[in-house]
Amino acid sequence: MDGVACKRQGWLLTVLFLGISCGQETQQPQTNTGPAQIEPPVQEEPALQLSPNIDLSQAIEDLALDAQGELLVSTGSQLYQMAAGQLSVRPLYAEPQEPQTMGKILAMSPLADGGAWVAAEEGLYTLQSLYLTASSLKLDGPVRKLLTIKLGPTAGLWLATDSGLHWLSQDNQLKALAMGKLSQGITALAADQRGQMLLQRGSEVSWVKLESGKLFDHPLGFPIGEVTAVASAGQTLLLQTQTHLYLHLYEPSERWVEVKLPQSTWLPLRYISGDQLAGRFWAQTLGGDLLEFDAQQIIKRPGLNLHVPPVVDGLGRIYKAGGSILLSGSVSSGPELSFEKDIRPWLQTHCLACHSSQGADFSAYETFRPLAEDALHRVKNGDMPRCEGSARCADEQQLKPENYQILLRWLREGRKP
Ligand code: HEC
Repeated sequence: MDGVACKRQGWLLTVLFLGISCGQETQQPQTNTGPAQIEPPVQEEPALQLSPNIDLSQAIEDLALDAQGELLVSTGSQLYQMAAGQLSVRPLYAEPQEPQTMGKILAMSPLADGGAWVAAEEGLYTLQSLYLTASSLKLDGPVRKLLTIKLGPTAGLWLATDSGLHWLSQDNQLKALAMGKLSQGITALAADQRGQMLLQRGSEVSWVKLESGKLFDHPLGFPIGEVTAVASAGQTLLLQTQTHLYLHLYEPSERWVEVKLPQSTWLPLRYISGDQLAGRFWAQTLGGDLLEFDAQQIIKRPGLNLHVPPVVDGLGRIYKAGGSILLSGSVSSGPELSFEKDIRPWLQTHCLACHSSQGADFSAYETFRPLAEDALHRVKNGDMPRCEGSARCADEQQLKPENYQILLRWLREGRKP
């Protein structure tokens, strides 16, 4: 096999990367055909201090965030929303001719311009200004999964029903994405902010790309066993089987990697949830420890009994549910960041050469604040800063995660002036 033919296959590329030549690999076929392994260092941290305890006197079934990063809690029959530290029931407002109950709550997701989407047995609802109302979107059957993506080509609302996958894109058009078998019976879905998605159907998965409003199937290129979970966080997709954990990354190049955990007994991780802002995942090991991880690092904290995925809100507060009890704590550490003290100087170094004279002035708190999430997204994408003549900078001139960590932390801490 010559070098070119060899490079055409993803797994052989991996083998090359491990320093084994193509020739040798063809003689001992397919002993290790998965993607390259990475072993992010594990940092042990003390248990999170969680408080206050709110008892809803009914088992909590799901936690999610609204568009403002405030917590939503579902007990199946009731929806609660956090506002100014208080959890309150959000009732259904229905016209007399409409059904007066929504049935069991199946899924929740942020609504792009404020509030949240709520899928229930009777249909799809929106939560806005303290009430739930029936949405006018017409779908074939109850929505099983909802996913809101704020930025990038997959931005909008993704809805999986028993018979298909639908996308309410940012131009407010509801598209049924006809993909035959692939879009039917979806049990979980994940989308990154660059247009790639994972569709899980039971123990199977499809990896698809969104291009010009259509989804295209990609072969994964490596064999996988029974899929147990898919998730997304920012630009990273996660795929887990009974025995393996894979991440799809773009930096330094686009590829799948296998995350090697220090103990295989941690797998399969449970209750995986993606923190879209930080681009990290939260999960619990089989032994009960709480992990916060990405391809660079795994932070491990001692046991937390969870039965629904934990969520981390826009202020860096983590919420978890245990039975009917809701607990919260903070994951931010270090001195609090402010725009004046920390962010303006950072913008000065990297961005103000262009962003003070033309367009929005980033040196002013009021103008930068609403653009901050877009700014983080562009920096992570390598789209900003720009280099000579406003062209995209070469890879080596782009900012590394350690250079923009400060922007993420400031966002999580609530964008203080
Ligand atoms: C060499 C010039 C240059 C530098 C340096 C630069 N940008 Fe930009 N930026 C641009 C241009 C040109 C646009 C508009 C074109 C576009 O959106 O592609 C833009 C657009 C943006 C936007 C969209 C909102 C808007 O005001 O148009 C954001 C957000 C942004 N930049 C963030 C950043 C951040 C954060 C940095 C620093 C880490 C940075 N930029 C550094 C040239 C630059």
